[in-house]
Amino acid sequence: MASPSPSATPAQSNSGREPESFRFPPGLQRNLPLYLFRRFFRPGNPILLFEHLAKTYGPVSHYKLGGSNIVFINEPELIREILVTQAAAFIKERTQNRMKILLGEGLITSEGEFHMRQRRIAAPAFHRQRIQAYADMMVERGANMRGTWQPGQTFDMSAAMMELTLEIVAQTLFATDVTAAIREINDEVNVIMRLYNYLIALPRAESYLRWPIPGLMRFRKARARLDAQVYRMIAERRASNEDRGDLLSMLMAARDEGEAPGDKERKPSAPQGMSDRQLRDEVITIFLAGYETVANALTWTWYLLSENPAAAERMRQEIDEALQGRLPTLEDVPHLRYTEMVFAESMRLYPPAWAMGRQSTQVVELGKYRLPAGTYFFFSQYILQRSVQYYREPLRFDPERFTPEQKAVRRRFSYFPFGGGSRQCIGEAFAWMEGVLILATLAQRWSFHMVPGQTVDVQPKITLRPKYPMMMTAKERSVNSARLEM
Ligand code: HEM
Repeated sequence: MASPSPSATPAQSNSGREPESFRFPPGLQRNLPLYLFRRFFRPGNPILLFEHLAKTYGPVSHYKLGGSNIVFINEPELIREILVTQAAAFIKERTQNRMKILLGEGLITSEGEFHMRQRRIAAPAFHRQRIQAYADMMVERGANMRGTWQPGQTFDMSAAMMELTLEIVAQTLFATDVTAAIREINDEVNVIMRLYNYLIALPRAESYLRWPIPGLMRFRKARARLDAQVYRMIAERRASNEDRGDLLSMLMAARDEGEAPGDKERKPSAPQGMSDRQLRDEVITIFLAGYETVANALTWTWYLLSENPAAAERMRQEIDEALQGRLPTLEDVPHLRYTEMVFAESMRLYPPAWAMGRQSTQVVELGKYRLPAGTYFFFSQYILQRSVQYYREPLRFDPERFTPEQKAVRRRFSYFPFGGGSRQCIGEAFAWMEGVLILATLAQRWSFHMVPGQTVDVQPKITLRPKYPMMMTAKERSVNSARLEM
């Protein structure tokens, strides 16, 4: 049920001395679970709820879940307020806490000083010059995969892109010949992710984890095996002390004189490096942040290209002209502008990180509203980037929205697939490079076509996955294929 106008609620201030009055945005009047039978409330799909809120109440809306106040924002300037201008008044912690069962105190889950120090330490590993070294690894893996398909073969694109991006992130993290280890890591990660998506939906996942329930035991065992792999690689690297040009070398070379919150084990074991535990947390964080997001972006891109043959043809022409039959290199990326525009437009319609959350640590004023400490704030790339207020014909796939001229006039935070502010995605440049190089490598030899009659829908988990397998048929391209390198 709608409350037509913002409500003003008196409440106690944090100090408890003076009553403080808050001004809440319009929104649902009853507690969320009471809407169980409404179409917009489906416990596994918050997109429906967010869509309903934005449509019914406008750019800022409010609802309650139990005793918590939740504000949903669909306005670029206010998102900027939260992520940039007033960032100091917000934390991620509570909204991300459950992820710690897997990620520990890595970049995604840590907060405050500790996060800032880790971010400074990790930054050089993601510098543009450094990630250039990863370009060849990316193309090599892509070329490998494209060599395994047969003309007319039908396969699940989503599974293929997961496999490819997992290999790429494993290779760029650990370099050298770790194929066998990567395969084992792949298996563990697959088990973990299947269970993890359910686990983090539980209110107190970390406390259930010790229960002797088969699914939970499987998660724990897979996590222990993954940890063992990662610790083994760290130990080998420490022993050889060599810089292999990969992410792990960069993270190990980094300095850290501090201590993680509340964990003696994390004290640096080597005087100038992160402790093994800290390295483990960062490695697993980068690993998980770095593959499923890109896999989903690529899968949705192939889907959109299959539905928009003119754009697909234009992209292939660009690739043929730029590469003349050779495999792409980093130097080709600036000449693959349309390919990049396709990738950008795909992440507008299907942003892999489809929503973000923060919690206020103090009273905040946001637009005309005044909200108590402890309020949760959510905003969604998926909803905002499909809003007619910011995009004409928002559901139309149109890479031309990403010409330099269009980008220059776009409102800030009306497109934010990588977040923003001090916690903006550290892997953004890595992801753009990977996206463009993989699209070019695969599209140079193949075009992919949706098997007719499939239902396509989104599944908003941690990332925006396709809900069903995305079955596609690979057609070998005749143009230039005789001259292809692989
Ligand atoms: C298309 C691909 C990707 C998308 C859409 C994406 C999106 C995002 C977003 C939205 C955030 C900010 C979350 C927040 O502030 O709440 C983020 C953070 C992060 N991403 Fe990505 N990401 C992608 C690829 C990658 C890759 C390839 C890596 C690493 C190789 C990576 C590593 C990280 C890390 C470590 C953070 C945490 C940064 C911090 O809080 O300091 N991401 N990503």
